Amino acid sequence: MTRPRVFACRELPGAPWDAVRAVAELRVWEGEDAVPREVLLGEAARCEGLVVTLVDRIDAELLGAAPRLRVVSTCSVGVDHIDVAAAAARGVRVGNTPGVLTEATADLAFALLLAAARRIPEAERFVREGRWQKSWEPALLLGRELAGATLGIVGLGEIGQAMARRAAGFGMRVVGWTRSGREVAGVESVGAFDALLARADVVSVHVARTPETLGLIGARELARMKRGALLVNTARGGIVDERALCAALASGQLGGAALDVFATEPLPLDSPLLAAPNLVVVPHIGSATHATRARMAELCVRNLLAGLRGEELPRAVSALGSR
Ligand code: GLV
Repeated sequence: MTRPRVFACRELPGAPWDAVRAVAELRVWEGEDAVPREVLLGEAARCEGLVVTLVDRIDAELLGAAPRLRVVSTCSVGVDHIDVAAAAARGVRVGNTPGVLTEATADLAFALLLAAARRIPEAERFVREGRWQKSWEPALLLGRELAGATLGIVGLGEIGQAMARRAAGFGMRVVGWTRSGREVAGVESVGAFDALLARADVVSVHVARTPETLGLIGARELARMKRGALLVNTARGGIVDERALCAALASGQLGGAALDVFATEPLPLDSPLLAAPNLVVVPHIGSATHATRARMAELCVRNLLAGLRGEELPRAVSALGSR
């Protein structure tokens, strides 16, 4: 019997590739950047399994050109790069990596919140650029206090809930909003989205990117936030309208923002975001810890192997969401 073929679009830190090689012919893309589309299309056409990351577009075109494909395993919790309905229609199983990255991503979101509230990157630049010339100044680089402030969490999935736990530890009040109206212990549910915007001193975004959440926070929503409030987005680019965000930062309507994710990644060097005041930017590193990336790779391989065997995946994504 011929062994199935698997193509992995990236080397993944800690991936147990030996377990894949034991049952399949594996090729791991070794290029320095993401695999080019034409290479991915060629591999998809001959493979039973694909290991992908959030930059590899698995759409109807690719699926239509992949007659042997049984499983797409993504090393990410987000699946907005995958046409899950088209995969299901072709009997291709899709797996992702929820759960194992929850704490690391919430840590990064909270770190960004602190960085924006206490102006840490700006203070770092102040020292490094030789501007710290006078003795201790009572009014130097004043920021916000978190204790007693209200955090508004948009999306109360696992990462949103982990963010709520961190905020409680810092003495913040926590209010939350989900489209489904889900209630979560320790989080006051506000009902309407506008009510969350009006009450929060800091809004943190933790929803998946879907057609419904694209542009969820635009000029109208930013105008409904408290003047001087902060915004953190570690979910996906496109959920926050970047042009509107730049305008709200420039006018002072927002006091600051911190972003890990962008509509276009890598963030183009001529992006207006880079000229916006009081904005902290980091390069999509929400889950980037050694331990978390190893757990993601391991789960990603377990999903792949189950799919090659024709079994249900440990963490399957259906057109209705992940389980
Ligand atoms: C990261 O953005 C992920 O979806 O895992």
